[in-house]
Formats: sequence, C-alpha cells, structure tokens
Amino acid sequence: MPRLSGLPEQVKIVEVGPRDGLQNEKTMVSTDIKVELIHRLCDAGLLVIEATAFVSPKWVPQMADASDVMARISRKPGVTYPVLVPNLKGLEAAIEAGVTEVAVFGAASESFSQKNINCSIAESLDRFRPVVSAARDANIAVRGYISCVLGCPYEGEIAPQKVADVAKALFDMGAYEISLGDTIGTGTPGKAQAMIEAVASHVAIENLAAHFHDTYGQALANLLAVLQMGIATIDSSVAGLGGCPYAKGASGNVATEDVVYMLNGLGIDTGIDLEKLAKTGSWITGKIGRQSGSKANLALAAKRDTVGA
Ligand code: HMG
Ligand code: MG
Repeated sequence: MPRLSGLPEQVKIVEVGPRDGLQNEKTMVSTDIKVELIHRLCDAGLLVIEATAFVSPKWVPQMADASDVMARISRKPGVTYPVLVPNLKGLEAAIEAGVTEVAVFGAASESFSQKNINCSIAESLDRFRPVVSAARDANIAVRGYISCVLGCPYEGEIAPQKVADVAKALFDMGAYEISLGDTIGTGTPGKAQAMIEAVASHVAIENLAAHFHDTYGQALANLLAVLQMGIATIDSSVAGLGGCPYAKGASGNVATEDVVYMLNGLGIDTGIDLEKLAKTGSWITGKIGRQSGSKANLALAAKRDTVGA
C-alpha cells in the first residue's frame, strides 16, 4: 500500500463521545443510554473511552450523573475510562468512583478560560497543581487538555506560543499527555502544523494528542497534517457528536468512524471494528434524535441498507 511520509506506525484513539459528545445535549440523556454507549464503544474495540465529567452540575447539568455512570459500567481489563475533573472536589468524587485516569482542562485563551472554568489561565494552573499532585499520589494518571489552540470564540486568533506555554506548564506539573483542542474547529492544516511545532519544542510529540472539532470540515485534513509530524494520539467522538457548552457555535468532534476509515486507508491499524463502531454511531444518534456527523457512518449505513445486512 502506498504510504504517506512521516506517519506513525500506530495511533491511539481516545473516544470522547460519552463526555464531549453528550455534555452539550440540552435534553437529559439517561444514565442507561450513557452506560450502554460506553459498553458498545468498548465492544467495538476502543481502548480509551472518556466516560464522563466530575464538573459542577450547575455548569454542565448533563454530566450530573458522573458517579452513577462510573458505578454502572462494566470495566473491561485493558480499557481505560478517563474522566474530566476541574478541581479537587471533582478529583475526590472521581477517586470515590474508582477512576484510574483523570483530565484537567485549561485553555490558551483568557476569555475562554473565564467562561468555561470561571478563572484566569494562571489561576487555573494554580488550581490544577494540587489536583495533579493528589491524583498522582493516588496512582491516577493525569491528562491535560488545552482549549482554543487554533482559535477562540471570544478572542479570535491564538498565538502558538501561548499554547506552548500552557502545554509546558501542564506537562511540568505532571500531566503525562497534553491534548490540544481546536474547540471551535476553525483551524486549517498549516496552522495546525505551526501550533504543533511550537508546542513540540517544549513537550515531546509523543506526549501530545490532537483533539479537533469539525465545525468547518477541516478536522480530518488537520489530523493528517499533524499525523505527518508524528502525532500518534487522536481524540474523536462516535458519530461526530460533541461541543463545549461554553464555545458558542462549535460543532462536534471529528467522528471516530471517519478517523478509523482514514487510518485504515493509510495502513495504520487501530484494532477498532469499523462496522461495530458505525452501528454504535447509528444507535446513539437514533437515541438522542440527531443526524450522524460522520460521513463514513452514513456511507456504511447506506451500504448496509443496500445489501440488507
Ligand atoms: P465556580 O462556580 O467558580 O466554582 O465554577 P465554585 O467552587 O464556586 O462552585 C460552585 C458550585 O459548584 C458549588 O455548589 C460547588 O460545590 C459546586 P453550591 O455550593 O453552589 O451548591 N462544584 C462542584 N460540584 C460537583 N463537582 C465539582 C464541583 N466544583 C464545584 N467538581 C467550576 C468553577 C470549575 C467548578 C465550573 O466552572 C465548572 O464545573 N466548569 C466545567 C465546565 C465544563 O465542564 N466545560 C466542558 C468541558 S471542557 C471542553 O469541553 C473542552 C475540551 O473538550 C477540549 C476542547 O474541545 O477544547 C476538553
Ligand atoms: Mg472538545
């Protein structure tokens, strides 16, 4: 198979559908559906499934059942189920729920930081430090998210150096992986590469992940651009669900089905059963009354209808 240059041999997919995919749904999704979604994703071969968020239910009501979700999922050996925690209160609840990995989430934009977590970037880093340290003391791995790495809904352009500074701070405090969020999906491939180049001068590329939303239909192109730089961890959401309640106008994450289809075509094995994944995408969109944001999902569903599978 012809190969593009610079691609990683293997890619880790972090499925964020149960958290990022559902957090912005206005109608409450039942805990039963959330739990079944996680089980179906696991059955499709996803090895990292971000399950929920231990955030303030006043801020994100959809995630209010975080403890119930964690109590009710059957955890498969070899699969991790990370959760978001914004502060020590969230970490304590997550520990109580028996999590093995958490993620703190900051931003490269001051305005977005204020809107999303009600504090400045510097305050957020001060808030995360004891969270990361307490998590690590409890043998819990910590991931660090940065939002608005390719643009902010309130400030517009964000300098790559700003992203690099926040990434360094999160990595230095003990986050093992930094997930770079194009929260509003405004990035394009050249900008994505410039941002990764700036960040990679502080944090090694193997410790970086791409978390791209697809608002302008650029996410797959941006992913390919950063895969060619050595990024080997991709966050995506089944059926392209998703969006942050504090990022107006932002649409879903890049769809996991589309990412897996592209990686398969590039000869990069993910261990994911695309057909099972696509059926999960059709199932969850049916349950919450949404159109799938995944072209691969729609194409596979149409093919299934034609052959009557
Ligand atoms: P605050 O209002 O400044 O915090 O919010 P507070 O400490 O004053 O607490 C307010 C109330 O929330 C209190 O309750 C606390 O007890 C409670 P009250 O006394 O009024 O009854 N509270 C909590 N309850 C449960 N769990 C907690 C917790 N913390 C406080 N952990 C805070 C600050 C950070 C808590 C709030 O702003 C918050 O929860 N924000 C979360 C917003 C969010 O979840 N956004 C979406 C996720 S980020 C994202 O989607 C981007 C990402 O996908 C990457 C990308 O795409 O860019 C990751
Ligand atoms: Mg996101």
